[in-house]
Amino acid sequence: MSTTPATLDAPLALPCGATVPNRLCKAALTEGLADAMNHATVRHERLYRAWSVGGAGLVVTGNVQIDRRYLERPGNVVIDGGATGGDEGLDALRRYAAAGTVGGNHLWMQLNHPGRQTPTHVCAEPIAPSAVPLLNHSAAQFAPPRAMREDEIEDVVRRWAHAATVARETGFTGIQVHAAHGYLLSQFLSPVANRRTDAWGGALANRARLLREVLRACRSAVGADFPIGVKLNSSDFQQGGFGADDCLQVVRWLGEDGVDLLELSGGSYESPTMMGAKLRGPDAERPVSDSTRRREAYFLEYAAAMRGAASMPVMVTGGFRTRAAMDEALAGGELDMIGLGRPLCVDTDLPRRLLAGDCTEAVAYERGIDPPKAGLAWFCLQLLRIGDGLEPDRGLDGTTAMARYAENEASTARGLVGR
Ligand SMILES: Cc1cc2nc3c(=O)[nH]c(=O)nc-3n(C[C@H](O)[C@H](O)[C@H](O)COP(=O)(O)O)c2cc1C
Repeated sequence: MSTTPATLDAPLALPCGATVPNRLCKAALTEGLADAMNHATVRHERLYRAWSVGGAGLVVTGNVQIDRRYLERPGNVVIDGGATGGDEGLDALRRYAAAGTVGGNHLWMQLNHPGRQTPTHVCAEPIAPSAVPLLNHSAAQFAPPRAMREDEIEDVVRRWAHAATVARETGFTGIQVHAAHGYLLSQFLSPVANRRTDAWGGALANRARLLREVLRACRSAVGADFPIGVKLNSSDFQQGGFGADDCLQVVRWLGEDGVDLLELSGGSYESPTMMGAKLRGPDAERPVSDSTRRREAYFLEYAAAMRGAASMPVMVTGGFRTRAAMDEALAGGELDMIGLGRPLCVDTDLPRRLLAGDCTEAVAYERGIDPPKAGLAWFCLQLLRIGDGLEPDRGLDGTTAMARYAENEASTARGLVGR
């Protein structure tokens, strides 16, 4: 796509014909607020109303699972047209979508399958392209996966399309296919996680086949005028993993597949660069230029490289905190949208204030969390608080956050009904 310099308040026209009112996106943030049936609740309505009036032109939901057997967290929302059938909580989804669009923003449902990144307290035998366990994690955290049969792969495609249909029918204004961060589609893309020798593994065209079949099935389910985004790793940042060259080719294919917005991120549970962890593997050797450091964003350098191959608008998420860096990246034509994650776990109205010029810098809460490994728990607990109608707790101590989060996840897992 030609590089079109833009300002933060400029609308963005998508290939499908929809328009996003400005260039700020609330990136996907897993909420953990579903009920014991994994249906949406009034807690989603509270949280998403706050984000909707918060000013971002695009709000992407936390990952919604397409198969209730395999969850990223026990409190995920699930749209499961499979064996469980029955009530999918459609009315609750309608109320969630209505609350999440009161501000006139787009609200896209992120659809995901965690594959081998399914915690053990959710599932004792997760599925994955191949039986390759996660590095740096114990079996108590993530049980070793088994390789998927071909009919299971085809089932994933069908489930994704079903969930996309439900998203449209219940009032969400788009979907985002999660193909990043080491979840199932990202596992298929990775030569490390995907050791298959059939038509779903080996050459990049085979490793990308599941993602592309999911996109084709979703497009045919939702029609030509409904936005479909993809979140993709610019690199896995792992020795022998999905790297920048692979990404470049996949980005070209995503253009052929009619993707409306490409969100670039990076990393996985094995190499959590999406949160700014120190890069490991071959890409770690790449020099990080001064300008990139100045501009904060972790993946901006990669985005600039992908830009030439991308026929659709590009968004970059990870690290953006100052209005100056956002303006600079937009003006430089390196991207079309800015994704924001952690700051919006606390300051839900940050986009509105940035757009109004009332704020020039987001608070980087992650820098004050001690120990740093408590970050995810700390941010997740803020979302639970907002969902419960409480104010965020900016003074929350990291060690307390980890203990409370672990207890919340364990008790939510114990409370799940009908599994
Ligand atoms: C609490 C929390 C939950 C997240 N959940 C998701 C998710 O469901 N799906 C996803 O694609 N990324 C998820 N992410 C990653 C964010 O979307 C984003 O890529 C990351 O936080 C980097 O952006 P930031 O530097 O602006 O926070 C999550 C991050 C945090 C902190």
